[in-house]
Amino acid sequence: MLLKSAKTQALKKELELASSQSLRYAHDFARLYKETKKHKDELAATNRQLKRYAEDLQKNNSLLKTVNNELQEAYYDTVHRLVLAVEYKDRFTGQHIVRMSKYSALIAEKMGLPERDVLTILYAAPMHDVGKIGIPDSIISSPHKLTSEEFSVMKRHTIIGAEILANSKSHILTVAGQIALTHHERWNGTGYPCGLAGDAIPLPGRIVALADTFDVLTSKRSYKDPFPIDHATEVIKKENGKHFDPQVVDAFLANLDKIAKITCELNPKVC
Ligand SMILES: [Fe+2]
Repeated sequence: MLLKSAKTQALKKELELASSQSLRYAHDFARLYKETKKHKDELAATNRQLKRYAEDLQKNNSLLKTVNNELQEAYYDTVHRLVLAVEYKDRFTGQHIVRMSKYSALIAEKMGLPERDVLTILYAAPMHDVGKIGIPDSIISSPHKLTSEEFSVMKRHTIIGAEILANSKSHILTVAGQIALTHHERWNGTGYPCGLAGDAIPLPGRIVALADTFDVLTSKRSYKDPFPIDHATEVIKKENGKHFDPQVVDAFLANLDKIAKITCELNPKVC
């Protein structure tokens, strides 16, 4: 009897212990659940906040892109207008600059220049004769062959162009200044204004020298009719290694189909 009562007591105690443990577990579980839910809510709030940030960033990014595009457009437009200012003095320049800059970019591309450099040449080349703005009209528009004195004045358009374009923070304008100064230099050192030879002439200047000459050859001037493309190409070939860098001539010849296409589109009288 005594033994039975002791066993009952022990069982009762175990039951009480198990019951209190279950209560503690339930309490801990409820606390954990509450904390987990709180973290989950906090995470959801953080997610919502991050989503709002991402949306704001996207909006700002698209606004910046629009502003950047507008600035770029204004920049090219300003450059174009600067070049058009020269057209008032030299009535041949308007279409000439469109063609010769396209020829220049095609040559640069064929020479394997990176796309950024090709585009720089495309946008910088039209400014090659910007210095003509500082040359008297009587010389620019002279219907006759220039006297040696007049030609000396005319040569100054290279230096004036370089001065106009000097000290710019813009890479395109810096290259344009380089082109303005060197587009009448010759591979064999007989050009002007400095008589530079070979690699001493910056590559954009060497490229524009050929593109400019080819367009002058295939254009009408007061002193000559336009040369047909074949004839102009022969003149360029004859000047290989003299007036022109042989590598530039190679790239020009390798791209002749595309160059002739531009000539025919923009100067149909030649084709
Ligand atoms: Fe020039």
